[in-house]
Amino acid sequence: MKIAVIGSGYVGLVSGACLSEFGHQVACIDMDAGKIQRLKAGAIPIYEPGLEDLVARNAGAKRLSFSTEIADIAGAQAIFIAVGTPTRRGDGHADMTYVHSAAKQIAGALKDYAVIVTKSTVPVGTGRAVERIVRETNPKAQFDVASNPEFLREGAAINDFMRPDRVVIGTDGERAKEIMRQIYRPLFLIDTPIVFTKLETAELIKYSANAFLAMKITFINQVSDLCEKVGADVHDVARGIGLDGRIGGKFLHPSPGFGGSCFPKDTRALIQTARDAGSPLSLIEATLDFNEARKTQMAERIVAALGGKPEGKTVAVLGLTFKPNTDDMREAASVTILPALQKRGIKIRAHDPEGMEEAKKQMPDLDYRDDPYDAIDGADALVILTEWNSYRSLDLDRVKTLLKAPIFVDLRNIYRPAEMQAAGFQYSSLGRTA
Ligand code: UDX
Repeated sequence: MKIAVIGSGYVGLVSGACLSEFGHQVACIDMDAGKIQRLKAGAIPIYEPGLEDLVARNAGAKRLSFSTEIADIAGAQAIFIAVGTPTRRGDGHADMTYVHSAAKQIAGALKDYAVIVTKSTVPVGTGRAVERIVRETNPKAQFDVASNPEFLREGAAINDFMRPDRVVIGTDGERAKEIMRQIYRPLFLIDTPIVFTKLETAELIKYSANAFLAMKITFINQVSDLCEKVGADVHDVARGIGLDGRIGGKFLHPSPGFGGSCFPKDTRALIQTARDAGSPLSLIEATLDFNEARKTQMAERIVAALGGKPEGKTVAVLGLTFKPNTDDMREAASVTILPALQKRGIKIRAHDPEGMEEAKKQMPDLDYRDDPYDAIDGADALVILTEWNSYRSLDLDRVKTLLKAPIFVDLRNIYRPAEMQAAGFQYSSLGRTA
């Protein structure tokens, strides 16, 4: 089947590459000529394990192509919209400019029947708006609109796309349903459940999933704070509650606050949608407020670990990205925590395996080091901010020798308190007092 994907960002590029891996003929279209030029040359604009090989293999087999021309949607039975939906300045709503403009362009170029599929995370009602825009721009167009939200995680994107827990498709059109079924046929062979719904329902499923997960993380972060006060262990609490099938053990790991391109933005957008609809989601509002406050509170923890005398101290920070296996710095906890530390007179020496180029754009005045031990050498304390695997097996004797004082603040709980104390560190972590 011929498919077009508009927008070659994270979701667009991964979806395009994976759909071509299913055997479909996929044209990825993006108006950024530089990006398309680079993609044609095999250069992948994001760090995502396995993506480069996947793109090379399918482009080599001529199943995957890149173009700036909307006319290249010709012959496609499905056209996916996977453009950005950033938070709109001022009001927290998702900015639909790119989605609406993609809909107009598609309408202008549409010749035969196609199903127009929103893949970007879009507020409830967007599918209907796309339908309206296409009809107004091209009254003769034959099409259906579908919502097919994507649940992939950065760093595990290909696996998540290829082996999803479920596929959600919201559409009213029977023809559209059949085309979508054809597209995802390879997944049904591995028994992936497919959930067919109305347009609006599919749109709300995506936001509800992200908001629920954000709430789950925030729940464990609050419980983690309580654990510290009452002498409990947050990991044992998470395991003890997570084994209840109704709760589930995933997304119960305490952290300095969730970040990334989805959870903060999507919870903000859902809060606005719910307020506008006169049905506010107070749980999600509290989630977002707590998460923002948590990042600032983490800076205070680091100051406390320094004995409350931060001025003139140097802190080595390992990990800058919002999570491991990505170079993405969007809404990373580091972006709030580190400037707050600098304001307290602390100098930051930072290392991240993949994120330093991106980090430099947001925090140009940190002292970046290519080697973690170089960052630690002579620092007054060490802080782990992102749980990259390479930080899980640090040479602790070396770390202790290099640090001026053995202060070790582990905001991702990748070490064990008893072992760290036995090794002579003043070790602090989240939700564990032992
Ligand atoms: C998320 C959703 O998981 C995905 O389904 C959706 O499509 C897009 O948003 P992603 O942003 O790539 O994916 O990252 P994810 O792995 O979900 O982590 C998000 C944030 O939550 C990270 O900052 C991570 O550190 C934090 N997190 C995650 C926790 O703090 N604790 C956890 O237990 C899990």
